[in-house]
Amino acid sequence: MNITVVGTGYVGLVTGTCFAETGINVTCVDIDKKKIEKLRKGEVPIYEPGLDVLLERNIDKGRISFTTSLQKGIQECDAVFIAVGTPPDEDGSADLKYVLGVAREIGQHMEDYKVVITKSTVPVGTSFKVKAAVEEELQARNVRIPFDVASNPEFLKEGSAVDDFLKPDRIVVGVESKRAEKVMKRLYKPFLMNGHPLLFMDIFSSEMTKYAANSMLATKISFMNDIANLCELVGANVDLVRKGIGSDTRIGNKFIYPGTGYGGSCFPKDVQALVRTADEYGHSLEVLKAVEAVNYRQKTTLVEKIKRHFDNDLKGKQFGMWGLSFKPKTDDMREAPSLVIIEELKALGATIRAYDPVAMEEAERILGDKIEYAKDEYDAIIDADALILVTEWSEFRMPNFRILEKLMNQKVIFDGRNVYDPEEMEELEFTYYSIGREPVQSNEKQTVDL
Ligand code: UDX
Repeated sequence: MNITVVGTGYVGLVTGTCFAETGINVTCVDIDKKKIEKLRKGEVPIYEPGLDVLLERNIDKGRISFTTSLQKGIQECDAVFIAVGTPPDEDGSADLKYVLGVAREIGQHMEDYKVVITKSTVPVGTSFKVKAAVEEELQARNVRIPFDVASNPEFLKEGSAVDDFLKPDRIVVGVESKRAEKVMKRLYKPFLMNGHPLLFMDIFSSEMTKYAANSMLATKISFMNDIANLCELVGANVDLVRKGIGSDTRIGNKFIYPGTGYGGSCFPKDVQALVRTADEYGHSLEVLKAVEAVNYRQKTTLVEKIKRHFDNDLKGKQFGMWGLSFKPKTDDMREAPSLVIIEELKALGATIRAYDPVAMEEAERILGDKIEYAKDEYDAIIDADALILVTEWSEFRMPNFRILEKLMNQKVIFDGRNVYDPEEMEELEFTYYSIGREPVQSNEKQTVDL
């Protein structure tokens, strides 16, 4: 079988590479010439564990190739996956110009039957817009070539994208015809070895599933963040509450970790887009509106704690920041809580020296000289008045606190991910703030206060 994947971003590149791994011939198309040149040499433009090895192997085997020409790309394929970006408009709704542009090009160049699959996360109803765009172009050419559209949302997580794609919890496909269903069944058969389901449904439901899934996950996080904040006020410990509720199988123990708010390319964008869609239908999604508001507030939770600790005077204060990416194992900075925290601290006159294991380059591209860039985690906290931990990279889990003590100006930690144990912090005499747990005031701080 031959497939074409248009768009070599996160979803497109992982999709193409993983399909190639099953023995299918894959052509990846992207308008970005530089990116295509790099990919031909096996250079992966994003940080995604395991993807480089897989890509190189499939290039060597001749199962994956790259081109900037969609016309060439779609000549011999049975199915085309559209995996281009859908950046949010100013009003939060998804901008479909790239998706529909690709659909039109497919209509301009296809010569035989194809399934045109929307893989990008798109608002409910988009696959039918794709269908109309292809049809329009075929009509303009005055040809009658059969084709089907399908919706096949992607649920992979950054940082474990390859694994998620190769061993999915489920695969969701929205189709309109038996012919398209047959093609999709053949394509996905190799991924069903773990017994997880391939769910066929109508196109509207398939498109809706993606938004509902991400919105439900975002809801879990905002709910837990809200509960964590209340835990602090009433003197409860959110770690215990999390375990207490997570062992109820109806609730589950995943995705209920409080923190500095969710970020990334999906949750913020998808929650906003679904709220917009509902508004367009005259229905207000009250729960999701609150999810978004809570998340916005949560991104500034650490800043509020910092302000309180330093009696609202951050002028000239120096902070070491650990972690910049929106979560570990990625260099993605989109909607990262670190950006909000940096912005707020800077506005209050503080300076920040940051370290992230992989996102330094990306951070510098976005933040320029707004912050200082450290060469490692210890370098980041030299002379710092406090350490702020924003992303829970594993290498931050067991630092040498004796070194911290020597290098820092004050022994104060603001932990946005509950990585450290408050009891240990107390023993080490650090002043320690986390999320949803009672703060630890060190003796040192008390002496200063007296
Ligand atoms: C998410 C979805 O999981 C995936 O199915 C979809 O295809 C794309 O969006 P991703 O954005 O890569 O994937 O990240 P994910 O690991 O889901 O984390 C999202 C955000 O939630 C991160 O900012 C993370 O720190 C936060 N989070 C996650 C929490 O704050 N607490 C949790 O318990 C879990």
